[in-house]
Formats: sequence, C-alpha cells, structure tokens
Amino acid sequence: MQFDDVIMGRRSIRGYTREPVPRALIEEVVALALRVPSSYNSQPWHLHVVTGEPLERIRAGNTERTLSGVPDSREFRKGKPYAGPHRARQIGVAKQLFAAMGIAREDTAGRQDWVLRGFRQFDAPVCVIVTYDREMDGNDDTPFDCGAITTMLVNAAWSRGLGAVINSQGIMQSPVVREHAGIPDDQVIMKAVALGWPDETFPANAVVSERRGVADVVTFTGFED
Ligand SMILES: Cc1cc2nc3c(=O)[nH]c(=O)nc-3n(C[C@H](O)[C@H](O)[C@H](O)COP(=O)(O)O)c2cc1C
Repeated sequence: MQFDDVIMGRRSIRGYTREPVPRALIEEVVALALRVPSSYNSQPWHLHVVTGEPLERIRAGNTERTLSGVPDSREFRKGKPYAGPHRARQIGVAKQLFAAMGIAREDTAGRQDWVLRGFRQFDAPVCVIVTYDREMDGNDDTPFDCGAITTMLVNAAWSRGLGAVINSQGIMQSPVVREHAGIPDDQVIMKAVALGWPDETFPANAVVSERRGVADVVTFTGFED
C-alpha cells in the first residue's frame, strides 16, 4: 500500500471478524511503529498486547464495573469537558456513527449497547494497552510521544489490512486492565487500541469522519504567496 492510501484510507474500526491475528504480524506492525520519533529519542512507552483469556477477563471486568457504576479511574488528566468547536466535532462524529448503526437519539438501550461495546474493546481479537514509564510522569512530552507511537501503530496496522481503534473506553477501569494484562506499578496506563481484521459488514466501519481543512488549521508566516 502507498503512504497516501494508508493515511487517506484508514478509519477507526469498531467491528471485527473473529479471525485471530498472528503474533508474527503484530510483531511486524509494532516494528514499523517503533520507528516513530520521540522526545530526545526517549521512547518512554510499553505496549502490552493482550488476547485470549486475559482479554476476556478485561472485557468482563470493564463491563461489570461500568454497569455497576464504578467511577472512571483513568490515570491521566482529563481537563475540562469538551466545549465549543471541540464539542461540536465530538458530536459530529458521534452522529455519523449512530446514523450508520441506525441508533436513534431516543434509543437509550441502543446507545448503552454501543457504549458497552467500547468497554468490551469492540469484541476485537486483540487489545494493545499503551503505557509509559512512571518516572516520566509530569513530562508532557511523554503523552505526546505515546500519541505518536499509537498513531503510527494504527497506520502500520492498516497498511497490513488490519483495523484498529485507539480508545480511552478500554482503560477507564484501569485496575481491571492492570490486573489482567499484568501491568507493573512502575508504568502508567495511557490508552487502549482494539486491533483485528475489519468486519466489512459492520456499518460503523464505513464512517469517514470529517476533518478541518488546511486553511482552517495552518497559519503561514513569512511566505511570499
Ligand atoms: C486519544 C483518543 C481516544 C479515543 N477514544 C475513543 C473511545 O473511547 N471510543 C471510540 O469509539 N473511539 C475513540 N477514539 C477514536 C476517535 O473517535 C476517532 O479517531 C476520531 O473520531 C476520528 O475518526 P477516524 O479514526 O475514523 O479517522 C479515540 C481516538 C483517540 C486518538
């Protein structure tokens, strides 16, 4: 696949086939992702690749705790709720996804089901938990670097025909993830990535989310034209 095909073709995948992903292919994808730049080449990340029974326990634990109202225990700062244009974009993609899935605004059960799907890691055969060394805590370059490797990972996966969705839902109940993925205490849990073969019949997988344009994002300074 050409670079442009990967970048322009990639979408978040939220429905997967049951086909397992060979470990060798995951190693190949991770090897590509590891070429990402990082602050001072610090490479502060760890990737915990989980499948099988431990992943089933994570799905079950996340679901159980969410349904029983255990509050979110993310290990990073959330800041204020999205507002203004950020909130508008959040709502925009949610509307696209719900429309594709045929989930109406008043369909409380359908919406709940959709949320729980995220807590189950979208029933993907593999989940990658991205963590970083706790001694790097407080350095804002570290979450920046984790974002970079995670983005590289999903693009590298796409280049090999694999789908993925970066998500916070999978790590909102962080003690569950820490226990079943065996994450040591000297690592901070940053994000989850569901990974597997896209189910081509799953409607939300076809959603192409919108993007701001170049003119909206870029401020050119010092150019002649
Ligand atoms: C940091 C981060 C957290 C995300 N968390 C979730 C999540 O919890 N659930 C979900 O369904 N998608 C999640 N996403 C996926 C975004 O919704 C998605 O990337 C965005 O809408 C753009 O769509 P695209 O990936 O299809 O281009 C997350 C993405 C990022 C980068």
